Amino acid sequence: MTPTDDSLTRQARAVLHCHGLDDAVLTPLTGGLINATFRVDAPGGRRCVLQRLHPVFAPEVNLNLEVVTQALAGQGLITPRLLRAPDARAWITVEDRHWRVLSFVDGHSTEVVTSPALAAEAGHLLARFHAALAGWTTPLPHARQPVHDPERHFAALEAALDAHRDHRHAAAVAALAAAIGAAFRALPPVALTPLRLVHGDPKISNLLFDAAGRGLCLVDLDTLARAPLAYELGDALRSWCNPGAEDAPVASFSAALFDAALEGYAREGRRFMTADERAAVVPATATIYLELAARFAADALHESYFGWTPARHATRGDHNLARATNQLAAARDLLAQQAVLEATVRRVLA
Ligand SMILES: Nc1ncnc2c1ncn2[C@@H]1O[C@H](COP(=O)(O)OP(=O)(O)OP(=O)(O)O)[C@@H](O)[C@H]1O
Ligand SMILES: [Mg+2]
Repeated sequence: MTPTDDSLTRQARAVLHCHGLDDAVLTPLTGGLINATFRVDAPGGRRCVLQRLHPVFAPEVNLNLEVVTQALAGQGLITPRLLRAPDARAWITVEDRHWRVLSFVDGHSTEVVTSPALAAEAGHLLARFHAALAGWTTPLPHARQPVHDPERHFAALEAALDAHRDHRHAAAVAALAAAIGAAFRALPPVALTPLRLVHGDPKISNLLFDAAGRGLCLVDLDTLARAPLAYELGDALRSWCNPGAEDAPVASFSAALFDAALEGYAREGRRFMTADERAAVVPATATIYLELAARFAADALHESYFGWTPARHATRGDHNLARATNQLAAARDLLAQQAVLEATVRRVLA
């Protein structure tokens, strides 16, 4: 298979040329929403990954990826590594788009967590990643705006409502915004220190597993940052414990998957997590759902966002409204089980 889009193919071939990989075969790797990703099979059996970075990322994120994966590999973890071109370029820019080559890790990703065993593996893998980076003290080469900042996203939703008063979804989004705000105000505060070096987007499709279901490594390392562990775990758990699709009409939060994921994480995490970080796990997970609901709700009015599925939703606005509604429903299901989940945290992480 080859990429269908002409400019994509042209750019990919130009990048392969810079890497001395002219004769390689490209196979799209699905599972990502924003970067264009290909497996590269070169003559002689050499295999790597070619990725075109989404413009939302500065190409300097590759420098973060390079130093952090060097540290991970130095501690014996499996990880994709940045493969510089023979002329030492960390990325290649073609027609204003930035491309990189990574080492290939032979594993598979998944879109949803289908069993407690997989949740436990995911938890253990993420904890190994955090434990390996727990001693990281230096700034990353490229600092980015924090991904998670609920208040900023809630303010952006209010601004979107102001700017789109006549939008067909304005009333629905206003109702969502009120419900999101009320749920957020009812949550206990989330510990925002200490800052740790985190992945930044630990959703399940960014974890690779081997054929036996054992966790191999994290991929999609463009969002590496020093950030609160609470939001990192909240982001992971909101992804891993919602067994349905992010835009499904109903959503739930699985206490069984939460229990298993936390058990897996605790194998390493109980050694380095502070009491504040443990106490923040449940409220932070709810916070991330609400933050995402707010982002999707604002995108519903802006008619924006990259992951629109026209086959199932007439417009970007409709798709984002479905996503926002789903994430709020998952948050509500989590909050309905708060006492059970808090008991799990106490039992597993104590
Ligand atoms: N180094 C690698 N080795 C093997 N497979 C990889 C590698 N990097 C990425 N993949 C596969 O390609 C998929 C897409 O990659 P990636 O997650 O980096 O893209 P993305 O578009 O940024 O995704 P997202 O939607 O999460 O932002 C991954 O889910 C994984 O299955
Ligand atoms: Mg990804």
